Parts: sequence; C-alpha cells; structure tokens
Amino acid sequence: MERTLVIIKPDAVRRKLIGRIIQRIEDKGLEIIAMKMLKLSREEAEEFYKEHIGKEFYESLVNFMSSGRIVAMVVEGENAISVIRKLIGKTDPYEADPGTIRGDFALKLPENVIHASDSKASAEREIKFFFKEL
Ligand code: PPS
Repeated sequence: MERTLVIIKPDAVRRKLIGRIIQRIEDKGLEIIAMKMLKLSREEAEEFYKEHIGKEFYESLVNFMSSGRIVAMVVEGENAISVIRKLIGKTDPYEADPGTIRGDFALKLPENVIHASDSKASAEREIKFFFKEL
C-alpha cells in the first residue's frame, strides 16, 4: 500500500469540480483516507513549492495556488503515486490526453485543476505539510 498527496486546485474548487474529481479517484479503486478544505497563504504556497524557486513559472504558480480555497487529501492504494499521476495526465492541460483529469477538465496553465505527489519522497513531505497527524 502506498500513500500520496492530492490537491484539488483553486480553479477546480471555483468551477465546482470537487465531486467529479473525487469520483474519478474513487472509481479507480483508490481510497481517500484524509481530506480538508483550506486556503493557502502566500507564504504557505511558497513553502509548498520551494523546490521550484527560481523557475520562470514560480510566481504565477504561487499566486494561483494562494488565490482561493483548495481541497487537500491523502489517497491510499497499490502504487497510488504512479496510478494517480497517470489518472491526472500531463502537467500542461494542452498536452494532457483526453480521458485524464487534466485532459478532460483543463485548458491551459496554471489552471490545471489538480496536483499529485511525483515520488515517494515528495509524497512523504507533502502529506506531512497538510496532515501533521499522519
Ligand atoms: S518541472 O520544472 O518539470 O519540475 O516542473 P513541472 O513538474 O512541470 O511543474 C511543477 C509545478 O509547476 C506548475 N507549472 C506551472 N504553473 C504555472 N505556469 C506554468 N507555466 C507552469 N508550468 C508548470 C505545475 O502545475 C506543477 O505544479 P503541480 O501542483 O505539481 O501541478
């Protein structure tokens, strides 16, 4: 069993896509074992995305991720990290295949509706960031 951190981003919350995104995750057979809705401060978004400091998209990403409420959740299942990454599709919604969450619900960056940890190390750090108790 593996755990990963998933975020439903501010664009998806504004567009009332929470239910449909959760449905896709549960339909796949994965289990949501923790979940909360919150708004990141600018400082919290900077800390969460600190590995990208210096990249040209960093400011836009931090602005976007602190622009409204998000839903953070811990998803558990066999190979959960890679399964979720396949389910969400490529980072740029323009490149994401139809059938993936970004491919079906998003059009352009930075509004790509969902985040998921990209490795075991990131999953561990990101789960701790939102769920200290786990
Ligand atoms: S990298 O450089 O390959 O590590 O970057 P990548 O994994 O593609 O993306 C890292 C996060 O930055 C977001 N991103 C962007 N935001 C705004 N504008 C642009 N152009 C942009 N490009 C990438 C991307 O969605 C990743 O955030 P998460 O939350 O993981 O989706």
